[in-house]
Amino acid sequence: MERTFIMVKPDGVQRNIVGDVVTRFEKKGFQLVGAKLMNVSEDLAKEHYKEHKEKPFFGELVDFITSSPVFAMVWEGENAVTVARKMLGKTNPAEAEVGTIRGDYGLQVAKNVVHGSDSNESATREISLFFNESELVNYTKLINDWVY
Ligand code: TYD
Ligand code: MG
Repeated sequence: MERTFIMVKPDGVQRNIVGDVVTRFEKKGFQLVGAKLMNVSEDLAKEHYKEHKEKPFFGELVDFITSSPVFAMVWEGENAVTVARKMLGKTNPAEAEVGTIRGDYGLQVAKNVVHGSDSNESATREISLFFNESELVNYTKLINDWVY
């Protein structure tokens, strides 16, 4: 089963969009494996976004992601990486389709509400950057008289 790293960025946390993001992933059929509200250190931000370190927006990106808490999550399910990227929408919210998270809630590329891993390799790397193995929970969905 595939896993992906999803993070509600500081703008999404400040604007109370965490619950909606969680709901969308739950209702899509993905299973939550780990989640936490946390501050991102400068070192973690630079490591997480290292592919962009030469880009003109890198400094602002690091400042933004460290400015206020994020809500970090790991979701598991079939094609989790690809499907989650579709649910997020295009990087620039102005181009993201209505119905996607960025298309519904964002206006500017630098404040685009959510992050999602772009490949299985990125997902593995990002999950291990943000979570310890002990914070990731494996469980089976039950079928019994109190789950309905
Ligand atoms: P990127 O990895 O290209 O997008 P995505 O988050 O969809 O994988 O860029 C990382 C983040 O950098 C992006 O979510 C928002 C920010 N960013 C800017 O601030 N300006 C830009 O021109 C781009 C391309 C990204
Ligand atoms: Mg990216």
